Amino acid sequence: MRIAVAGGTGRAGAQAVSVARERGHDVVVLSRSAGIDLTTGDGAAAALDGADVVIDASGVRGKGDPAAFHTAVLQALVASRPPHIVVLSIVNCDRIDYPLYRAKAAQEQAAASSGIPFTIARATQFHEFAPQVWEFAGVGPVHIAPKMRTQPVAAREVGERLVDLAESEPAGRAADLAGPREEWLPDMMRAYAAASRRRGVVVPLALPGAFGRAARGGGLLPSPDAVLGRQTFAQWIAALG
Ligand SMILES: NC(=O)c1ccc[n+]([C@@H]2O[C@H](COP(=O)([O-])OP(=O)(O)OC[C@H]3O[C@@H](n4cnc5c(N)ncnc54)[C@H](OP(=O)(O)O)[C@@H]3O)[C@@H](O)[C@H]2O)c1
Repeated sequence: MRIAVAGGTGRAGAQAVSVARERGHDVVVLSRSAGIDLTTGDGAAAALDGADVVIDASGVRGKGDPAAFHTAVLQALVASRPPHIVVLSIVNCDRIDYPLYRAKAAQEQAAASSGIPFTIARATQFHEFAPQVWEFAGVGPVHIAPKMRTQPVAAREVGERLVDLAESEPAGRAADLAGPREEWLPDMMRAYAAASRRRGVVVPLALPGAFGRAARGGGLLPSPDAVLGRQTFAQWIAALG
């Protein structure tokens, strides 16, 4: 199959690209570092030509507006009318009032109403979320750790799931993907800091608002029929070396 991966250089997207290549697919990567800016659409049509399926694993970092980003990217991807689009989304994004989650829910809606056969692949936070928050929420030696119940999954297994779904018939909303065990984000960050010999103190914080309440209260955990990954967070930490 010819599989186009938007965001194919990111945490999840790069794993999908590796898995797809290992399985013998013809893979094309769409990202700015591959010369394609999907918010303008420049270069997208040529790259998407002949694709059997498009995986949208793109994401916005830093201060970018997630709603504007995902709307523009999805428009650029569906403009070429691919036979199937697989959208990587976040577990419970439609239940929590938070800008990124509203943007992901709108992205799902846009895929569903695009007229293109689609699959929504929701995942929980990745194991890589611990280093992500460590870097993002660090001020000097202090690293803020949101009080969060999460069931993190390996990005590699997210990549496998995306390719499994890309190889299958369009499924609409697929089952959630989550890791094998529930974790507590402050403990994940402490384990990450110890394993990677980073110095600093982890300070758990109850985030305000709807997102904070959901995070503490289990609102980010997957539905009971979720597909579970194999690698635990502890195994992922051990593999950091
Ligand atoms: N991280 C998590 O824990 C998690 C959990 C569940 C779901 N998700 C969702 O999964 C998606 C991917 O997350 P991630 O953590 O793997 O993201 P990431 O590592 O930040 O990767 C983002 C990808 O998007 C590309 N990108 C950014 N701006 C672009 C643009 N203007 N045009 C084309 N490509 C662009 C980046 O490449 P360039 O910088 O080269 O353009 C990169 O390949 C996100 O939508 C996120 O909401 C993430």
